Amino acid sequence: MTVLIVGGGGREHALAWRLKRDEPDLRIIAAPGNPGLAHIADCVAVPADDIAGLLALAEREQVSFTLVGPEGPLALGIVDHFREHGQAIFGPTAAAAQVETSKAFAKELMREAGVPTARAEAHDTAAAAHDAARRMGAPVVIKASGLAAGKGVVVAQTPGEAKAAIDMMFAGGMGAAGETVLVEEFMEGEELSLFVLTDGTRMVPLVPAQDHKRLREHDEGPNTGGMGAYAPVSLGVGGAPILSDSPLVSEVLQRIIAPTLAALRARGTPFTGLLYAGLMLTRDGPKVVEFNCRFGDPETQVVAAVIALEPGLRVLMEHVARGEALPDATCRVNGHAVTTVVAAAGYPERPDVGAPITLPKIDDVGVLVFHAGTTRNDAGELVTSGGRVLAVTACAPTFEDAQALSSRYAGEVRFTGAQHRADIGWREVERRRAAGEVRRPADA
Ligand code: AMP
Ligand code: GLY
Repeated sequence: MTVLIVGGGGREHALAWRLKRDEPDLRIIAAPGNPGLAHIADCVAVPADDIAGLLALAEREQVSFTLVGPEGPLALGIVDHFREHGQAIFGPTAAAAQVETSKAFAKELMREAGVPTARAEAHDTAAAAHDAARRMGAPVVIKASGLAAGKGVVVAQTPGEAKAAIDMMFAGGMGAAGETVLVEEFMEGEELSLFVLTDGTRMVPLVPAQDHKRLREHDEGPNTGGMGAYAPVSLGVGGAPILSDSPLVSEVLQRIIAPTLAALRARGTPFTGLLYAGLMLTRDGPKVVEFNCRFGDPETQVVAAVIALEPGLRVLMEHVARGEALPDATCRVNGHAVTTVVAAAGYPERPDVGAPITLPKIDDVGVLVFHAGTTRNDAGELVTSGGRVLAVTACAPTFEDAQALSSRYAGEVRFTGAQHRADIGWREVERRRAAGEVRRPADA
């Protein structure tokens, strides 16, 4: 059996690793893949946005189905194109992918479906956006409506920052993504990422994870695509982990995911694939920060490492890819995972590329180095090729051990200008301290 994975980031590496771990005989083709994926997959140099080239590849290799990692090809209609040619593919159509590709579309859909989210206005002119920002006051959130690789959002603490962000977007600072700008109410709370596999109606939630969007420790610096993640997340009394059958997840399925899927079905554009809900756990309950139409990165690296799905991920995805109903499934968790992203100098604005990389020698079981922005130069050396270079993922029976291992090995990755956050999971650390689960050295 052969699966084609489209993409070449840490997310795709983690998905391939997990599929292979479950089924060692599975053949994986990655397009274009990366040097890490090359150890477990056949990497073929077809770019992720070459829809015709990917279809030809899938047909030639007679793959069982294709799994699309990034949003780009989904926005371009890869799923529509494959289906027209009778090829099984996991992901939403371009119409359904608008839950991510147009924040204005997502807001309108949520309004229609009665899904809790921040109040927002979409505007096509700077004057109207300025007016909305003045009315909403500060803090306020300014968002480019289109795809911006997680970098199109400014949380403005002051009216001046809001004004500057709006002017930047209408001056073309986010390209076409900023032609429509959302001015959005600021929500206070903790964030959680929930992945839900869906055939359009039925839902299989995976274990929630927590991302770290800001570049620097203590959640400072600009927003990025994500600098690290961990799962499971323990919120609530006694630090009980939120698993896929927790009351919070049931509430999100019932109040957020199911009505969103129903609204998309009612429009004649059902969503199939992986719906990612970026949630804010506010005092008034969970609200949607954003939807994504695909697996998250770097959350996938931790989710893929800890889930115990029955039936397995490949089986569930294949049902969806073939247009069949999802079977009943359970998602349990084995241990804890923490992933720390090692990013290039200059990320997220202008990442340096071409720096030779020395990988750490891994002496601990449960530590995985997923490749993202890496490539081989003409001399065959491993060098940086993008903003987020590697995702160092550690699994351990305890959160503390997973955190320590991920952080330590991330620090042992060597290339010029490498940057990482050593505080991934800091909220979990604080919660555990508060719950008295961790004795600080001073108490010992
Ligand atoms: P998004 O790309 O929409 O997920 O936004 C990126 C990040 O900006 C989120 O993960 C939040 O940390 C922050 N953010 C976005 N919208 C809001 C909001 N309405 N209130 C507070 N923070 C937000
Ligand atoms: N980590 C956030 C995302 O995948 O969009």
